[in-house]
Amino acid sequence: MIVCSCSVISDRDIERAVFDIMSAPDAPLPTPGVVFRHLKKKMNCCTCAPVAVGVIYAAMDRLAADTRVCPFVLAEARAKLIRLEERRAARQHIIETTRATRRATAA
Ligand code: FES
Repeated sequence: MIVCSCSVISDRDIERAVFDIMSAPDAPLPTPGVVFRHLKKKMNCCTCAPVAVGVIYAAMDRLAADTRVCPFVLAEARAKLIRLEERRAARQHIIETTRATRRATAA
């Protein structure tokens, strides 16, 4: 399945990249940006980012199930990704609340 139509990246490309990234010592978090850089591709429109995150999570789950990568490294990376997502959601909530307040004040 093609995940990114701008850079023509499939779910298998992402799965291989996640395996390579997570197999390296001191593996960085496999964010979409890290995965795209590993594949030597660039994000253009970023429309695929949510789907890419889902594919990355699925790839990490498969690697953990296959025990091809240390499960502790995968669990730590997953926890960090969840914290990043929580911070992003909190920032988004603040932005939306601020916009709603400004709209209410302007009306
Ligand atoms: S669809 Fe992936 S960057 Fe546009």
